Amino acid sequence: MEFASRLQNVETSAIRELFKLLGKPGIISFAGGFPDPALFDAEGIRIASDAVLSSTPGPVLQYGATEGYEPLRAGISTHMRAKGAVVAPNGLIVTTGSQQALDLIGKTMINPGDKVIVEAPTFLATIQCFRLYGAQVIGAPIDADGVQVDVLERLIEEHRPRLVYLIPTFGNPSGATLSEARRRRILEVALRTRTLVVEDDPYGELYFDQPPPPSLLALSEQVPGSRDWLAHCGSFSKILSPGLRVGWMIAPEALLARATMCKQFSDAHTSNLSQAIAAHYLTLGRLAPTLDVVRRTYAERARVMAECLRQDLGDAISFNAPQGGMFFWARLTGGRDAAEFARRAIEQLVAFVPGAPFFAQAPDNATLRLSFATADLQRIREGIGRLKQAL
Ligand SMILES: Cc1ncc(COP(=O)(O)O)c(C=O)c1O
Repeated sequence: MEFASRLQNVETSAIRELFKLLGKPGIISFAGGFPDPALFDAEGIRIASDAVLSSTPGPVLQYGATEGYEPLRAGISTHMRAKGAVVAPNGLIVTTGSQQALDLIGKTMINPGDKVIVEAPTFLATIQCFRLYGAQVIGAPIDADGVQVDVLERLIEEHRPRLVYLIPTFGNPSGATLSEARRRRILEVALRTRTLVVEDDPYGELYFDQPPPPSLLALSEQVPGSRDWLAHCGSFSKILSPGLRVGWMIAPEALLARATMCKQFSDAHTSNLSQAIAAHYLTLGRLAPTLDVVRRTYAERARVMAECLRQDLGDAISFNAPQGGMFFWARLTGGRDAAEFARRAIEQLVAFVPGAPFFAQAPDNATLRLSFATADLQRIREGIGRLKQAL
């Protein structure tokens, strides 16, 4: 069978191949990108499900509007306002996870051959999705403070990309957070060069000690005109449940209208039942206490992972301890190859993801990503100990 030529632009990720090995009995995995299911507020979701199925079974089991279930659009608007971003309910659409928002952005913005700029490294699914639309994906380097804005500005001038995609807060895989000064500059550069910046923010709520700087969306109020060049993707996946598949997209009106049209042809609308559950959940007052527990748990796991990495791997590895999110991004010293290390690690029954696939270009083969989200403290200690054996 002959398949569409656009598929030639993408390949199954090396990460998926690695995941096949994760079924080994006894393995401790730092490889996944999932939140810890033990922290899901299943009771709250059950209460919300019962409530919506008892009070409004017709609408929540029926087809619905492509833009989203109205009570949820209102709920997300309130949720965003609490984070400093003023968005009217009709200034956002609900998407099937933020992953769909990224796909809709690709669909509406990218012509084959267009250039897009992403962080190096960035979320692998975004690289693949944009490539599927024919994009040439260019990487902009990051450091501990997120993307290097001087270099990004130069790359924008040089390549005139269709868009720039950033995960400014607790990035996946980098764990890095863009400083407030850099955020402001990015908004200024977007405005000056008339370049769409896509802010993907699924992790911003998962901070450990103190909240991160305001999102680009919230800061855009202070850079008049920049909001016209900004799209923002949010999600309940990491704070409530990824299985609900509820995310959202905030964007200038013309982009939002076209994305809505494309969504209509794709899945008609996001599950009304999921949307209604999320909307009702937001009214229960359970999100804040649930997030408190998630933040404390992840903070403790990150602290222990940092401690163990320093103790057990010492000079063999370098990393910046993240201030939130779910990931450590590390680099092997002495020219070691992380894919090779990953294979030895699996023999020792511990897994992580080599970093190379997260680079759109010029992969750094010494890098790796470790998730601390799903292993408890004892397994983190044991797992990092096994990594030492694999060195
Ligand atoms: C940076 C980033 N964006 C988007 C997503 C997709 O999340 P969702 O479940 O909302 O589709 C993920 C999931 O891991 C992610 O890490």
